[in-house]
Amino acid sequence: MATAMKYRTLPGTDLQLSAVGFGCWAIGERWWGDDVREEDSLAAVQTALERGINWFDTAPLYGHGRADEVLVKALGAKRHDVVIATKVGVRWDNEGMHAQSHLDPEWIVTDTEASLRRLRLDVIPLLQVHWPCERDTPLEASLEALTRLQEQGKIRYFGLCNYDAQSLARALELAPVASLQTPYSMIRREFENGLRDVVAPRGADGPAAQRVGVLAYEPLARGLLSGKFRAPPRFPDTDLRARDHRFQEPAFSRIRPLVRALELVGQRVDVPPAALAIAWVCTRPGVSVAIAGAKRPAQVEQNVRAVELLSRHRLWEALAPHVDACRP
Ligand SMILES: NC(=O)c1ccc[n+]([C@@H]2O[C@H](COP(=O)([O-])OP(=O)(O)OC[C@H]3O[C@@H](n4cnc5c(N)ncnc54)[C@H](OP(=O)(O)O)[C@@H]3O)[C@@H](O)[C@H]2O)c1
Repeated sequence: MATAMKYRTLPGTDLQLSAVGFGCWAIGERWWGDDVREEDSLAAVQTALERGINWFDTAPLYGHGRADEVLVKALGAKRHDVVIATKVGVRWDNEGMHAQSHLDPEWIVTDTEASLRRLRLDVIPLLQVHWPCERDTPLEASLEALTRLQEQGKIRYFGLCNYDAQSLARALELAPVASLQTPYSMIRREFENGLRDVVAPRGADGPAAQRVGVLAYEPLARGLLSGKFRAPPRFPDTDLRARDHRFQEPAFSRIRPLVRALELVGQRVDVPPAALAIAWVCTRPGVSVAIAGAKRPAQVEQNVRAVELLSRHRLWEALAPHVDACRP
């Protein structure tokens, strides 16, 4: 019997998100190798819906809009019933080769309107600044532009991605920021160094109420924690992982004992390692939900099984020494 999905409300919003969301980067058909097929992507989104996933993280950057097109094709009219979280503020150079963060108010409006058209929506449920950038535009001006879009009804909520603790703290003072999207996995734990204290400040009696929702991305370390790589893989040049040191030595062998532990614990509790890796992220203090990318239905089937583990606290004790051994 399929596991029932669990939902979590982002603080200060009425957004109820499945504990595991669907990340659309790979289905954009660029930067993730040569094996991304539209029919698999459509089926993967379909499986996500069937398993209770109700939010989809995309971006204009993902395949230059291709991820949005595939997502809309897969969702059809259901796109109005789910939470599509997209991003804003990246601009390509003329040849479409280099993306740069660009957060002046005019570009924020232009980029948002392009997303509304591509996603065939009247309102974007959650619009997130893709990367921080204050080179040309003060944070205040970008946040004012987002607040205006919210007042005009073009977006319901807005959030930030990849902000550090200091900039996030400032943004929270300035505007009603609904979410922070940030990397977090068993082998990538910058979130614990300062950011977590901003989203869930600790008082004398333990953590205070969470100030902002946290959407943790890359929980599988780009597939590495799924256990499918027994030796350092060779990716084609079209796959960004060809340039990711974690898939090469010496990092690969340093992480391997953790992956082996995920396999062993997974066998014991009858879940795939990917589900354990995602559940670990979902159960960490300060995290609201996790976003896992997938190219195929079978991957989604494995990833949603993370929800079976959300109350299995003893599992993390067994894994803690292996997770801590992977700290940089
Ligand atoms: N805001 C930002 O700046 C930012 C940055 C990065 C990501 N994100 C978002 O977060 C999402 C998730 O991150 P991510 O996609 O980079 O990394 P991830 O979720 O850690 O890994 C996803 C990849 O792992 C493989 N995979 C997934 N499930 C699997 C399973 N059960 N077994 C084996 N392999 C599996 C697939 O690639 P293969 O099949 O090719 O191995 C998939 O594309 C993205 O899609 C995107 O929406 C946002």
